[in-house]
Amino acid sequence: MATDVHRPVSPEAVPASETSQATPSTQATQAVHVAGLTRAFDGRAVIDRLDLDVRPGEFVALLGRSGCGKSTLLRILAGLDRDIEGTVLVPRRKAVAFQAPRLMPWKKVWRNVLLGLPGKPGRAVAEQALKEVGLDHRTDAWPKTLSGGEAQRASLARALVREPDLLLLDEPFGALDALTRIKAQRLVGELWQRRGCAVLLVTHDVEEAVLLADRVLVMDDGVIAHEQRIDLDRPRDITDPRFAELRAGLLERLGVDTAAEAA
Ligand SMILES: Nc1ncnc2c1ncn2[C@@H]1O[C@H](COP(=O)(O)OP(=O)(O)OP(=O)(O)O)[C@@H](O)[C@H]1O
Ligand SMILES: [Mg+2]
Repeated sequence: MATDVHRPVSPEAVPASETSQATPSTQATQAVHVAGLTRAFDGRAVIDRLDLDVRPGEFVALLGRSGCGKSTLLRILAGLDRDIEGTVLVPRRKAVAFQAPRLMPWKKVWRNVLLGLPGKPGRAVAEQALKEVGLDHRTDAWPKTLSGGEAQRASLARALVREPDLLLLDEPFGALDALTRIKAQRLVGELWQRRGCAVLLVTHDVEEAVLLADRVLVMDDGVIAHEQRIDLDRPRDITDPRFAELRAGLLERLGVDTAAEAA
């Protein structure tokens, strides 16, 4: 996996003092390297000197209360927001999928999958990615005829054709019903294991985070306020008492009273 190709998202916004923290060896061994990142809106710092490293091939889940800045961070890593201070190093090959699949209604599914890809790739490239997400039977469908789960899989296929070293997912299962959500979670877990790319998954679902991630981060006050390594074997068993313990610990960190929840 090519993880040694990094570029600053915003070289002009990087103060010299902070660039010096990112030594070449740090850059080469991390899929994501963020140091002293600040993003303010109307004078209010939503992200406030945040540090974050993600290893190549690592699956990281990001939790945090609504409005704490998770999507802002993801958009910065995706290169969609460059009005920042600090150091942000990410692989050149990255892809992002959001809660809403964002398919162009006037393009068939396979054309949506190839949208924005350089070098005029052929239909076969889209077909292969659609097969990987179990959607090859809808290659010629119009987006409006897809179910929510199918549209989300099309969005994942669009991310996969980019052969990302870093896959950024912003609540990709948020709008799905419970059963479709479980299937989509499994699919992402399989794709990650097959592809070996680093994943940063923003989610509100603590169980989903413990099920999928190597490491779970909790964002608060503009920084990564807590991190929890998940050392459970895969595939994970949600009935494992250690699973429940990790889940409860994270819920507590998020300010959810699990005793009251159980009552
Ligand atoms: N373009 C913008 N202009 C002004 N404020 C913004 C902008 N984008 C985000 N914000 C503010 O920054 C804060 C963080 O927003 P963000 O979308 O990152 O939160 P979040 O953690 O993803 O929340 P949620 O879990 O509800 O999706 C919010 O208070 C939001 O209103
Ligand atoms: Mg968000």
